[in-house]
Amino acid sequence: MDIFETINNRRSIRRFKDESVPKTDLEKIVDAGRMAATGSNRQPWDFIVVTEKAMIKQFTISGAWIVQAAAVIVVVMDPDSRWWVEDGSAAIQNMLLACTGLGYGACWVEGDVLPHEDLFRSLLNIPPNKNVLAMLPIGIASETPAPTKKPLEQVLHWDKY
Ligand SMILES: Cc1cc2nc3c(=O)[nH]c(=O)nc-3n(C[C@H](O)[C@H](O)[C@H](O)COP(=O)(O)O)c2cc1C
Repeated sequence: MDIFETINNRRSIRRFKDESVPKTDLEKIVDAGRMAATGSNRQPWDFIVVTEKAMIKQFTISGAWIVQAAAVIVVVMDPDSRWWVEDGSAAIQNMLLACTGLGYGACWVEGDVLPHEDLFRSLLNIPPNKNVLAMLPIGIASETPAPTKKPLEQVLHWDKY
């Protein structure tokens, strides 16, 4: 898949087949996150890869559908860095594209995670000075949602707004 095909094919996937994702692919996905742009090269991130079903079940507080995921990557950030949200977001987008490129579905889950940050901190032994930015449930997609994007001509401005 070329880069533009990967970008265009990426969708938020919330339905997965009951199939596992090999550890080598999960490593490749996290490696794509690690390679993201990062303010002042601080790299203020850690990635927790969860494959234990019992733990993944506990994540359903952020969405019942998450139980279907073969793996969940939890993105942990150091808020000491001024750019921690931007850096984490860049890493997440890289990982979502890596998932698409490798043939997996995934979803950026943040809004449904933040209200439960303390629970995830305690479940996953995350230090109190680190923030949970998002989690990415990953698996083989069993849905193919259509994109619902604004048309290019609505958002592209040449020379002036
Ligand atoms: C910052 C951010 C937070 C998000 N939080 C959630 C979430 O909590 N739960 C969820 O199901 N999807 C979440 N999403 C996924 C969006 O709903 C999805 O990206 C959007 O509907 C566009 O669909 P697409 O990703 O298929 O293009 C989030 C996406 C972003 C970028």
